[in-house]
Amino acid sequence: TMALRQNSEREPSIELFIKAGHDGENIGNCPFCQRLFMVLWLKGVKFTVTTVDMRKKPAELKDLAPGTNPPFLLYNGTLKTDFIKIEEFLEQTLAPPRYPHLSPVNKESFDVGADIFAKFSAFIKNSPNNALQEKNLLREFKRLDDFLNTPLPEEIDHNSTENITVSKRRFLDGDRLTLADCNLLPKLHVIRVAAKKYCDFDIPNHFTGVWRYLETAYEREEFKQTCPADVEIEKAYFSVAKQTK
Ligand SMILES: *[C@@H]1O[C@H](CO)[C@@H](O)[C@H](O)[C@H]1NC(C)=O
Ligand SMILES: *[C@@H]1O[C@H](CO)[C@@H](O)[C@H](O)[C@H]1NC(C)=O
Ligand SMILES: *[C@@H]1O[C@H](CO)[C@@H](O)[C@H](O)[C@H]1NC(C)=O
Repeated sequence: TMALRQNSEREPSIELFIKAGHDGENIGNCPFCQRLFMVLWLKGVKFTVTTVDMRKKPAELKDLAPGTNPPFLLYNGTLKTDFIKIEEFLEQTLAPPRYPHLSPVNKESFDVGADIFAKFSAFIKNSPNNALQEKNLLREFKRLDDFLNTPLPEEIDHNSTENITVSKRRFLDGDRLTLADCNLLPKLHVIRVAAKKYCDFDIPNHFTGVWRYLETAYEREEFKQTCPADVEIEKAYFSVAKQTK
């Protein structure tokens, strides 16, 4: 039984491959890569991260079909390339009691930001004649802001006579980071950097919920340390933003 116990306590071997930046080494612009990077970090499991320049695939990835893009996961020696399956697999396999669940409790935590990146893409593509797309993007930010400022059911103390009217929670689904944040924060980071650079767009200050959320998130290592450098994002959007100019 001693041996069995040791076996079950052995850590899995996990290697995450993410897109390399233009220098072939640093973290590149890839919100899906950052999402898995954050998930693994939040799980508290041991893992390594390798940035890959797909022009010179490392030996572990030589069998990959051409055109397959990071992120990839090597889990106990098995290569996984389907992003959605990887996230589901990690959530199921790295489960309590040893690892935390990261699924949000409230379904809307996932849904609320679902359109924001598509609206941003339309906005930057149509620059500089993008007043309509800007309106659409701002509408999504408003929706996100309303959600972040509205108390969640669990924030409301039904015994209190005072109503909480503005949420004080730190993240989308409460005070802990969940898969919903791992999805949305990397996208918000890209939007902030690229929309500022090419459209001189700032997320308006009156979106106090969005700003509270972002400021809290940038204090967390799991997010801050997994962001690509601004220049990676700027380079990635250079041709997108310039194509109609
Ligand atoms: C991965 O390897 C670890 C350590 O050997 C083991 O405990 C775990 O069950 C393996 N997981 C899977 C999904 O194969
Ligand atoms: C509300 O009051 C009930 C009864 O006194 C108590 O059991 C419950 O824990 C209270 N709820 C909160 C959130 O304080
Ligand atoms: C709290 O909100 C409810 C529903 O909006 C309202 O009926 C109630 O009067 C409010 N209570 C206080 C103390 O403001």
